[in-house]
Amino acid sequence: MKITLPDGTIVPALGQGTWFMGESKAAEQQEIGALKLGIEHGLTLIDTAEMYAEGGSERVVGKAIKGLRDKIFLVSKVVPYHADLQGTMTACEHSLQRLQTDYLDLYLLHWPGSIPIANTIEAMERLIKQGKIKRWGVSNFDVADLQAVDSYIQNRELMTNQVLYNLSRRGIEFDLLPWSRQHKLPTMAYSPIEQGRILSNPKLNDLAKQHNATPAQIALAWVLRNHDIIAIPKAATQAHVLDNLKALNIKLSNDDLAFLDNAFPAPNWKRPLEML
Ligand SMILES: NC(=O)c1ccc[n+]([C@@H]2O[C@H](COP(=O)([O-])OP(=O)(O)OC[C@H]3O[C@@H](n4cnc5c(N)ncnc54)[C@H](OP(=O)(O)O)[C@@H]3O)[C@@H](O)[C@H]2O)c1
Repeated sequence: MKITLPDGTIVPALGQGTWFMGESKAAEQQEIGALKLGIEHGLTLIDTAEMYAEGGSERVVGKAIKGLRDKIFLVSKVVPYHADLQGTMTACEHSLQRLQTDYLDLYLLHWPGSIPIANTIEAMERLIKQGKIKRWGVSNFDVADLQAVDSYIQNRELMTNQVLYNLSRRGIEFDLLPWSRQHKLPTMAYSPIEQGRILSNPKLNDLAKQHNATPAQIALAWVLRNHDIIAIPKAATQAHVLDNLKALNIKLSNDDLAFLDNAFPAPNWKRPLEML
């Protein structure tokens, strides 16, 4: 399953997250092994951030993608308190060093902050000119935040908005997701299995049994159901990577979707965008 970005670049709909990787030396080999296994099976979009383990996640990703760089669609993020013109340029340089690469495929502003977005965008444009990033986007932007950068969305320069979305966090369906679809802005869903918290839900488990699948697979298949959202589950174990891959083969019927709507109702009023 593939998603086309506004500039025509095609990326896999199922990628790999890396939050909490790089926190401990003892787990490093396992994390690298999980990421490499995912890459082998086509999970070549990898999401990281300067914030994760204070650069430790980027270091692990750098080791996992060594020798494979041209296969990877590498995403990292700048924290908003670094996101002025010079701060963004410097943060990007540090990310590139930790990732042992000379370019990012996509650079995101991690969440809206107090520095004017125009300064961040100017830095993104300079980084593109310098070849240090291929393209840029945002994360945790609600409709009003996107409206402030609407011209970049219309010009197909802003590639994605990465936001919290899973069965138990459906707030974006009320307005952000329809707005993004209308403006042809792809959504990248983070925490697509709610960091594991939804996996014990009895109804999700019932449906999983009917599909001879795991709850994680159903939760991922649900995020991917319309073939227009990218999901980036984090799996630090090879077993979880293999489990998640099978989500790509699960087709949820209309009855399944109605069952999940009943178990995890969609919102019918505007809620502020939730963040983790
Ligand atoms: N932009 C933002 O503000 C933002 C915020 C949050 C997350 N993110 C990105 O999105 C990625 C994913 O979100 P997340 O890490 O918060 O949560 P998640 O992907 O929903 O869940 C990760 C947790 O689920 C477990 N898991 C993975 N596959 C599983 C399976 N098949 N069965 C059972 N458990 C499974 C993982 O365990 P193991 O690791 O032990 O395998 C880990 O504990 C992050 O890693 C990060 O890259 C971005």
